[in-house]
Parts: sequence; structure tokens; C-alpha cells
Amino acid sequence: MVKEALHGLNVSIIGGGSAYTPGLVEGFIRQKEDIPLSKLVLMDIDEHKLNIVGSFVQMMLNPHLPNCELILTTERERAIYDMDYIICQIRVGGLEGRHIDEYIPIQYGVIGQETTGPGGFSMALRTIPVMVEIGKEIEEKNPSAWLINYTNPTGLVAEAIGKTSKIKHIAICDEPMVLQESLASFLRVSPERLFFDYFGLNHLAWARHVFLQGVDVLPKVRQALEHTSVEEVESLFDEELLKDPKVRTELVNTLRIFKDTGMMPSPYLQYYWFTDEIIEHQMKTGITRAQEVIEMEKQILAGYNQSLQEDKRPQMQRGGKWHADMMVGVIGAIANDTRDLFIVNVPNHGSLPDLPYHKIVEVPALIDASGTHPLAMGKMPLQVKGLIQSVAAYEELTVKAALEESYATALDALTCHPLVPSRRIAKSILDDYIKAHEDSLNYLR
Ligand code: G6P
Ligand code: MN
Repeated sequence: MVKEALHGLNVSIIGGGSAYTPGLVEGFIRQKEDIPLSKLVLMDIDEHKLNIVGSFVQMMLNPHLPNCELILTTERERAIYDMDYIICQIRVGGLEGRHIDEYIPIQYGVIGQETTGPGGFSMALRTIPVMVEIGKEIEEKNPSAWLINYTNPTGLVAEAIGKTSKIKHIAICDEPMVLQESLASFLRVSPERLFFDYFGLNHLAWARHVFLQGVDVLPKVRQALEHTSVEEVESLFDEELLKDPKVRTELVNTLRIFKDTGMMPSPYLQYYWFTDEIIEHQMKTGITRAQEVIEMEKQILAGYNQSLQEDKRPQMQRGGKWHADMMVGVIGAIANDTRDLFIVNVPNHGSLPDLPYHKIVEVPALIDASGTHPLAMGKMPLQVKGLIQSVAAYEELTVKAALEESYATALDALTCHPLVPSRRIAKSILDDYIKAHEDSLNYLR
């Protein structure tokens, strides 16, 4: 069989000034034979960040993809027209907006987190209107383009886009890739050899079994971990990444849950299973994750700037191999019509019969030029089914509140969230959000 030669691709990144962009470009460079880039458009409303990241990206492209045209722009339209793939990684309201999302619930003794709990609710309500607008713009100006969305909360955003436009889109998150690649390196096999029996929602998913040549390896891994120190496990991860205390805590807590249950959860499960510990820590430190990330970003951007002057690799990068492997892998599967398997966020369509048919779920799916084809993952185990179903109901109501601009539905949504203790607290948090995010949540007044 003759493999068709793939023409050069036009790819844009909306939110291209993000500190994640260089990691992503590195992924395109690694895959340049299979996914040749002819044009890369970086679009961002923050011109300062766009210029620093853009110049750094140009330096990365020069030796490896000298014929790839790089365009930096603040106009969204230029990142839509003529593109084959539009990658979106925006943060509506910036990290300052995230700080408000995370800070307010802590005042009520509730978890303050970007995508989980009230923080994710506020982020969804602020982000969905903008992403719906982007979806409609793609539908109108370039309906054949693919939107590959990394904008959080990715599952809720996908649900809203699916309800308001007919564009081709896939929502992704790097966590499944982190799990697949780390487990593969622990077992010293290539990740393609492992099959993940994996189910759930974005940031609330589980690997129930992991098969290698027909045998579930999770019991063996669980046993091996009894004799493996945390340090040995850590040696599988990027040293740079583990300097970040969030990543370290996630790893330790995920392993705690795995040792306990024999199933491997998403790292964000810690917010549901160790709620008391985490909230105690958050109330004690009084610092939000947003504040930590603001500091990290400053250092990373300064590092990009410095390496531009010294013409060498920066010390720190944000996001990295996994983020790029997922994004570039999915684009490659569509562009080359490979029907490869990726764990992505797609309409359920019966994959998980315990969840509604149209709900966006995180499951393994075959990906090719015609789109995503989720595999049947079957019924969920009783110990985790209830939590997933109640978060699914909260998500559905949140999307409905954003699309119908309804305060009452927003209040119902937050009340439903398992991390919110009462309707009274839900109302206080919601009202505080509307007040603090004057511009972006005005539509709920
Ligand atoms: C993980 C999550 C992403 C999130 C990222 C950064 O990779 O899957 O959705 O954006 O962490 O989180 P941070 O708290 O460092 O901004
Ligand atoms: Mn994610």
C-alpha cells in the first residue's frame, strides 16, 4: 500500500503567547516527518507575551523547520482563516481571574482549584461564552478546520461547543498521556503496547485495568510499588517538573489511592478523596495555585528572554513532552488517517452506559480523518460511579446555565457539586463570583 504524501499543514494556536507554546512546538519538531508544518500562526491578545514567546519559537524553528512560516498576530481571524488545525489554549481573565476563582471558595472552607469544585464552575461560566464565539467563528469562516481544544475546563467547553456549532473538534488533556507514558516507562515497554481500560470525565477518570499481552499489569505494578520508594518512582518523571510542589503532591496522592484501590485515578481525584487535608493546607498557606503559577510564568518568560540573548535552551519550561505528545499525536492521527488510539474527551455515544448518551466523557477512542470513535468501556464500578455521575450532572447544569444565561440554573449546578456542602454556601460563592468577575459574569445578574 502506498502512503499518500501529506501536504504541509497550516496550524494556529489561539493563546499562542502561553508559556506552554514552546513545548508544543518542540512536539511538532519531533514529529516533522509525519506532520510537516508549512505555516504556524500564534495568536494572542497579550502582545508582550506573544512577542517573547514568538521570538523564542522562531529561534526553535530556524534549524529544524526553516521553511515553516511563522506569523504572530493579535487578530483572531488570522488564526482561523486558511488553517487546517486550530489549537486553542486560552485563559479567559488571565491568571488574575483564576486567582479569584480559587480564592473565594477557600473563604468558605471549600476547595479552591482551577478546574475542580467552585473554581472550575466559575472558570466554565467565564470561558464558555468566549469558546462558543470561537466555535461559531470557525463554523462561519473555515468550517473544514479542526479545533483541537486544550482550554479548561476542557470537558465542559467541548459540551458547550458541541451544542452551539457543527465544527469538527476534539477536547484533550495531557493527563491520560502522563499516565500512559509513566506506566510504560515503569514497565520498560513502549506505551503503544499497553491497552488502557479507562473511563470517566476529564480530571475525574480511572484506569481500571491495563493490559500487556492479554495480562492486566496493574496488580503486578501495585505489588512492585510496595517495594519501591517514592524517590524511585519520581526518577521516572522529569526532574524539572517535580520541582513543582503541585506535581509532587499529585504523584504521592495518586499512588496512595492506587495502593488502596488497585485502580489508577486521575491526579485530580485527590480533591475529592483527600478534601479535608487539602483544604486545611489551602487555608493555612493562604496562597492560591494561581499565585504560584503567576510567579512561575514570570520566571519562565524571563528564561525565554535570556535564552534569546544567549542563544541557548532555557532552564525552565511549562508543560512539556506530554502536553505536546497528546496534541501533536491527535493531529497526526487525523492528518494521516491512522486510526490510532488516544484517550480523549468525546461525546459518550454509549461508551459508558452509566452516563448520558451525549455527555462528554474521557475514554479511549480511535482517531482518523473522519473523527473520533470511542470504544465501549462498559459499566463503571460502584465505588466510583456515584461520584462520577454527580459531577456529570453538575457539569451538564453548568453548561446549561452558561448557554441559557440563567442564574437559577447556575445555583442548581453549584449546589449539585459534591465538594459544595450546602445551597446557602453555593449561593454565597456564586454571588461573590458575580461581584468579583464583574465583566465576564455580568450576564448572570
Ligand atoms: C495538568 C492538567 C491541566 C492543567 C495543568 C496545569 O496537566 O491536566 O488541565 O492545565 O495540569 O495546572 P497548573 O495548576 O500547574 O496550572
Ligand atoms: Mn487537564
